[in-house]
Amino acid sequence: MNQDLLVRLFRSIDGDYNDDIVKVAETIIADERKKGHEKLAERLKTILQKNVHTNQSFRGELKNIFGSVSIPTDKRYNIPLALEISREQLRHHMILTDEIESKIKRIEQEYVARERLAQYGLKPRRRILFHGAPGCGKSMSAERIAWNIGLPFLKVRFEAIISSYLGESASNLKKLFEAIVTFPCVLLLDEFDFIAQSRGNKQDVGEMHRVVNILLNVLEDYDGPGLIVATTNLEGSIDKALFRRFDDIIEIPKPGQEEVLRILKGTLSSIKTEKTIDWVKLSSDMVGFSAALVVKIANDAAKNSVIHGNGVVGNEHFVISLAENQLYNKS
Ligand SMILES: Nc1ncnc2c1ncn2[C@@H]1O[C@H](COP(=O)(O)OP(=O)(O)OP(=O)(O)O)[C@@H](O)[C@H]1O
Ligand SMILES: [Mg+2]
Repeated sequence: MNQDLLVRLFRSIDGDYNDDIVKVAETIIADERKKGHEKLAERLKTILQKNVHTNQSFRGELKNIFGSVSIPTDKRYNIPLALEISREQLRHHMILTDEIESKIKRIEQEYVARERLAQYGLKPRRRILFHGAPGCGKSMSAERIAWNIGLPFLKVRFEAIISSYLGESASNLKKLFEAIVTFPCVLLLDEFDFIAQSRGNKQDVGEMHRVVNILLNVLEDYDGPGLIVATTNLEGSIDKALFRRFDDIIEIPKPGQEEVLRILKGTLSSIKTEKTIDWVKLSSDMVGFSAALVVKIANDAAKNSVIHGNGVVGNEHFVISLAENQLYNKS
């Protein structure tokens, strides 16, 4: 579509972040960005932000069409126990194998169909655990779910939850779950092994025992209108009793050759590439790398081509960025 038309269209948008029109507008912005139309994307984003009634007001008060919540804070420093990540900041363009894609899609579909399911006495999957190697999309999967189902995204701040005051870490966790009991959102417990370490751990202190006990209770009792997503790459160290509290436990694997190829092409979609690049060989050489590393290598090759060449990515730029990034590929 012509740029002026797009701008006029965006000026006429009126709604809030849960409206379909706003989600479509965000997709258009992402598409323009992909096409390399960075300036236009920024302009559209500014217009959209002006027109959309933001659901987030100040001081930790969050609202959406279903209600509002005041995010509790810790007693000592008054830090909110969770942080909202705005919809525009959510990463959601993921490349996954068909198997993992359909597992994540099932969570989204069940959430969308929750009322129909309820008519049959059924409940959607609401407590999800993602585990697997670093940099393969565990945190991103949580963000993508929130993006796709249109819920606010809250990330638990463990640094605020964990307190040196006796018993307060556990009560912080309780307070947070109580606050979201009627508030539809995706609550992310990212790298939750931090608070979910096995109670068998000898160096463990009483406070962390209490936290795991409360975690067991709040997960078990959660019957709220949103989703709880936990991630870890240390599933071996997590207290075994916690596993039973999840409705779905999904391992996010490293990308296979086909996924590596799609990640490379997706990352480089806004820059020219030489016809001589052997994409099949390149992607098969990168099997075993994390998705994050594949993105980094592609971005480094692109930057190299801009700084030392004419902005067209060729084999030589990949040779350099692959060699430079070998160090990161320790697994
Ligand atoms: N499946 C994917 N498709 C596309 N890009 C991905 C994918 N997974 C990861 N990435 C890229 O890697 C980055 C890191 O992903 P993410 O933060 O979700 O990893 P993680 O599994 O949570 O890692 P960690 O265990 O270190 O927290 C993303 O910002 C994105 O650039
Ligand atoms: Mg992560």
